[in-house]
Amino acid sequence: DWTPDIFVESTVAELKQKLGNDKVVLGLSGGVDSSVAAVLIHKAIGENLHCIFVDNGLLRKNEFESVLESYKGMGLNVKGVDAKDQFYAALKGISDPEGKRKAIGRVFIEVFDQEAHKIQGVRWLGQGTIYPDVIESVSVKGPSATIKSHHNVGGLPEKMNLKVVEPLNTLFKDEVRNVGRSLEIDPNILGRHPFPGPGLGIRILGDITPQKVAILQEVDAIFINGLKNKGLYDQVWQAGAILLPVQSVGVMGDERTYEQVVALRAVTSVDGMTADWVDLPYAFLQDVSNEIINKVKGVNRVVYDISSKPPATIEWE
Ligand code: XMP
Repeated sequence: DWTPDIFVESTVAELKQKLGNDKVVLGLSGGVDSSVAAVLIHKAIGENLHCIFVDNGLLRKNEFESVLESYKGMGLNVKGVDAKDQFYAALKGISDPEGKRKAIGRVFIEVFDQEAHKIQGVRWLGQGTIYPDVIESVSVKGPSATIKSHHNVGGLPEKMNLKVVEPLNTLFKDEVRNVGRSLEIDPNILGRHPFPGPGLGIRILGDITPQKVAILQEVDAIFINGLKNKGLYDQVWQAGAILLPVQSVGVMGDERTYEQVVALRAVTSVDGMTADWVDLPYAFLQDVSNEIINKVKGVNRVVYDISSKPPATIEWE
């Protein structure tokens, strides 16, 4: 019978056998899959696992610092790389969603490759690929999969000439979480909502500037902290805010304002393939909306997205 403890024990033994004294490089994202993969490989080969966590400038507010701290607390050998400026430069003037995804994926590969080359004699690329990702990339030829290029770092192993080690590629998400629990990984990491690789880059409709990122980070933090404080976070599969390329008229004191509109999105889902909008309490939405408009300069209107997938998607881009 499959249990997380048995999986951990046998996988660690296999990894030891397979990797020997080789060095492995792995990109951490702050998400469940890459974190669990890293801890498993670390258990097998210790300091020979070199982790890299890239700040692409499109993460949630304070995410880079806090996640880096918790990785260090887990004993991982991790290097944080601030590459914000490289990403912003590559994204300058690009409004098309696929164009943004491609630019973000390309810069990620460049930054990661450059960092990996600083590690002497690395032979393997560790990845947190799970079973549904394997299926999805096999079926990626179909019309539905070409709607969005989710696998933005697919070219990495070829470019780097490394062998790939993917200890989670037979597991589903809930199994990954159970393995993570068995490894005693921080519940905050295990319970985290999914977050897209291109991050806030696909939640800022239109072109990306550091100023827009700063606005969206504030809005998103108010919404997510609100969900956590009201005990709603764990009832939601994924939530976030979208900065719309629309300005609307408002009043502030005697002044007429003309500022941005943000949309809030919260969905329930099993695997992201279908999703329903969450019927969040009106009083909660009202508090969050007031807080956003009062605190975030540049935003004067908040709307709530009540579309389900299909036909809408979870993200707006
Ligand atoms: P959609 O918007 O297609 O999203 O309903 C389904 C799930 O996929 C995530 N998503 C992405 N993840 N790179 C990623 O790593 C991407 O380009 C990307 N686009 C969407 C989305 O956040 C949701 O969880």
